[in-house]
Amino acid sequence: MKKVCVVGASGKLGKYMVQHALDRGYEVVGVCRKQSVEKLKDFEDQITIIPGATNDREVIERAVSGCQGVLVVLVPWGVQQYASGTAQAVLDFAEPDARLIFSCGWHISLDGKDVYKWRFKAFLKIFGFLARLFRFAELEDQDEACRRIFASNTQWTVVRGSDLEEGESQGLPVWSEHVGDPVLQSNLTRRIDFALFMVAALENNNLIHKAPAIVGCQAASAKLHANSTTQGV
Ligand SMILES: NC(=O)c1ccc[n+]([C@@H]2O[C@H](COP(=O)([O-])OP(=O)(O)OC[C@H]3O[C@@H](n4cnc5c(N)ncnc54)[C@H](OP(=O)(O)O)[C@@H]3O)[C@@H](O)[C@H]2O)c1
Repeated sequence: MKKVCVVGASGKLGKYMVQHALDRGYEVVGVCRKQSVEKLKDFEDQITIIPGATNDREVIERAVSGCQGVLVVLVPWGVQQYASGTAQAVLDFAEPDARLIFSCGWHISLDGKDVYKWRFKAFLKIFGFLARLFRFAELEDQDEACRRIFASNTQWTVVRGSDLEEGESQGLPVWSEHVGDPVLQSNLTRRIDFALFMVAALENNNLIHKAPAIVGCQAASAKLHANSTTQGV
């Protein structure tokens, strides 16, 4: 892994991923919307910035060329198939053997075996309804994006984040295959550590074709239930 692309580099998760990637000595290419280039000012001398919408196929084709890894922030914002357009462009143009790591939330399910609390399901229903009504987001498009990723024969990993908080790193989150597993009960991860897990996944082939659901390694449930299979990556 020498050169990696961060798609959605200017957001909170994206900037943490850029920093972790630089810390590992990778050459970094970052894609972000034109109006957000300013947010990457601190990195301007250290990374190549490609301005443009992340679902712009031409932009992605240019950005991922020659990259052995691609870290993608999948967001459902707007009503323009932003998540599925972004995922499709990455799937189509990434180098054939590149490691592709996508971010999303616990609501995405790889095999339908996740068990959700009623409050979580109610929140999703209400958020989805309001998002459709006011046309600010398309949750179902993030589902569509992940369906396409799961069906692809690329070297993908979909990292499913719990609720997030800011704060200093506590270390690599622990993970489990299914929401509802005891180790995940605390449902809280530091955003900086979500990014750490994404970047670490680039070099972990055990996570290929998996959708790990993560939780902070210092969360109460992680301390109680973590074992060798869930401990970091
Ligand atoms: N927030 C949570 O509690 C939470 C929980 C679990 C999982 N996640 C997952 O974590 C990832 C990052 O989420 P985050 O909440 O932490 O956000 P974030 O890192 O701040 O990233 C937001 C991204 O969305 C882009 N964006 C914002 N508004 C947009 C619009 N109208 N059209 C297109 N792009 C837009 C931003 O680009 P600009 O910089 O150009 O604005 C940025 O790249 C996502 O995959 C999310 O599903 C989040």
